[in-house]
Amino acid sequence: MCGIVGYVGNKNAQDFLISGLKRLEYRGYDSAGIVTISGDNKAALIRAEGKIANLEDKVAKNKRDDKIGIGHTRWATHGEPSEKNAHPHKAGEIYLVHNGIIENYKELKKTLKEHKFASETDSEVLAALVESFYKGGKYPLADAVVQALKLVKGTYGVAVISEKNPDEVVVARSGSPLVIGVGNGETLIASDASALVGHTKRAIYLNDGEVAVIKKDSIEVKTLNAEPVSAKVEEIETNLAAIQKGGYEHFLLKEIMEQPESLKETLRGRLNVAEGSVRLGGPGLSEGELRKIKHLIIVGCGTAYHAGLLAGYYIEQFTPEITIETVIASEYRYRQAYIPEGSVALIVSQSGETADTLACLREIKRQGVKTIGIVNAIGSTIAREVDGGTYVHVGPEISVASTKAFTSQVIAMVMFGLTIAQAKGVKSTILKPYVEEIAELPEEIRRTLEDTNEKIAEIAKKYKDYEHAIYLGRDTAYPTSMEGALKLKEISYVDANAYAFGELKHGPLALVDDRFFELALVPEGALYEKTISNIQEVLARGGHIIAITNTDFDLPVENVVRIESQIKIFAPILMNLVLQLFAYYTTVAKGYNVDQPRNLAKSVTVE
Ligand code: M6R
Repeated sequence: MCGIVGYVGNKNAQDFLISGLKRLEYRGYDSAGIVTISGDNKAALIRAEGKIANLEDKVAKNKRDDKIGIGHTRWATHGEPSEKNAHPHKAGEIYLVHNGIIENYKELKKTLKEHKFASETDSEVLAALVESFYKGGKYPLADAVVQALKLVKGTYGVAVISEKNPDEVVVARSGSPLVIGVGNGETLIASDASALVGHTKRAIYLNDGEVAVIKKDSIEVKTLNAEPVSAKVEEIETNLAAIQKGGYEHFLLKEIMEQPESLKETLRGRLNVAEGSVRLGGPGLSEGELRKIKHLIIVGCGTAYHAGLLAGYYIEQFTPEITIETVIASEYRYRQAYIPEGSVALIVSQSGETADTLACLREIKRQGVKTIGIVNAIGSTIAREVDGGTYVHVGPEISVASTKAFTSQVIAMVMFGLTIAQAKGVKSTILKPYVEEIAELPEEIRRTLEDTNEKIAEIAKKYKDYEHAIYLGRDTAYPTSMEGALKLKEISYVDANAYAFGELKHGPLALVDDRFFELALVPEGALYEKTISNIQEVLARGGHIIAITNTDFDLPVENVVRIESQIKIFAPILMNLVLQLFAYYTTVAKGYNVDQPRNLAKSVTVE
């Protein structure tokens, strides 16, 4: 949430800041700003409400050749999206950009009588607090930043510069990511390594409680308690193609269509189809430790939570004597939940930065429970703090709506479940069908996308004016329907909700009328007949049904999408592709911003 960039070097700082902010725009996009400082200590602060394009226009009219600067794209927390609330915030001679939330900003503000506040933000309070220690340059900037941060409660990723020191940027983090790009004669700063791609391949990921003084040819990292840190320089693996649209109109469609390949990356080297087994190195649990697992806690938010729910349905099918509890991170972190002996926690997050998920990880670890990350973003905070993990390796996911990550998260978790089952001695005849289908999935995903794409686009046009949708499924199709409903609501603003088919008669059936349409998932299998009866009940009440099925279906619903595939166990994964496409095409038909839906941001780094 929110994006930070910074630059100090020999090149034009404005150019890097704008291009970096464009890369980070998916993290927040209600306002943006940059400040650069010239060699003769003159700052140029430029801010604009709305998208980075608005800022870019303003910068084009105020071109400078400054070699140092910081920038920010905002997702509003305190104060409406507006130019005055946009970062950087100024206090005396210092300028500050901030991600996160300063929880005690009201108390701090009361102590800062000398500063005339221009915005409603908590971040300006932090700027004023830094200035109160900096005193117009009387004390070193880094010391002032440290003094201020010691008084702060909350989370921050912060970058600060001063007109008085046009050769250094001070950065610090606690709970909000910050990456330092190590260049040749230049140093770059970003809240996400994607802004650095194409500029440098070498990066330092700052840890919580660390502060760094950054110059064009030096980086000095310390803890807030002034202990020196020998920072590790890591390689950025992302390439430029992975963060570009690659000929697609929207990142979302690109990411949906990438799934055959992204899932292959998740599976690479991890399946042995002949033996019907899987091998995951990352979790780092011995056979003995795996055998002792009795309870799995799966933690995530949004799509990651749905992936956990779906994976849980699968894992309990083939793993004996195990209970599975999939929880919403923002709830779990404040519950007094009892964690039984023999528990292991799966921490699921595409970004690896989600604040609530991270808080759960820390609490679960504190209780002495082993934590395994199911993470996409390499080097992210969650990936670094878990005891072990399995990267899903789907590459950058840029569209706010998560798609390719979901598919791979489910399968990565199922593979972890298979690893437990193997250790517990479950017969390979039971596990093999799962392994075989997983191996076939990338190709079947490709085929399903190809076969259904056009039809879904047509159907979506017909339903685009509905304001309400009900998604329905049973068993593994139920969490799938939850994920489908989330996708539709978050990008097309249709009030879409999912129910377990069996729950209809307990309330939601009362909704069925001409304002609603229903998306029914009808997989072949043990509950097929029951699902058909449930659909009859909706039809009898005048429902407007789109059925998605992989088997024979002859009820008189308005539309049927038939998936032709030999995949049976994981048919809901294929059905979810249809739901992803449906959300995409509905949003296109409505003319909304597909990749940057209103009010949202990609990486939710605040609580
Ligand atoms: O990065 P994470 O996987 O931790 O993100 C969790 C949710 O914020 C995310 O899945 C969100 O629900 C998506 N916008 C859904 O498409």
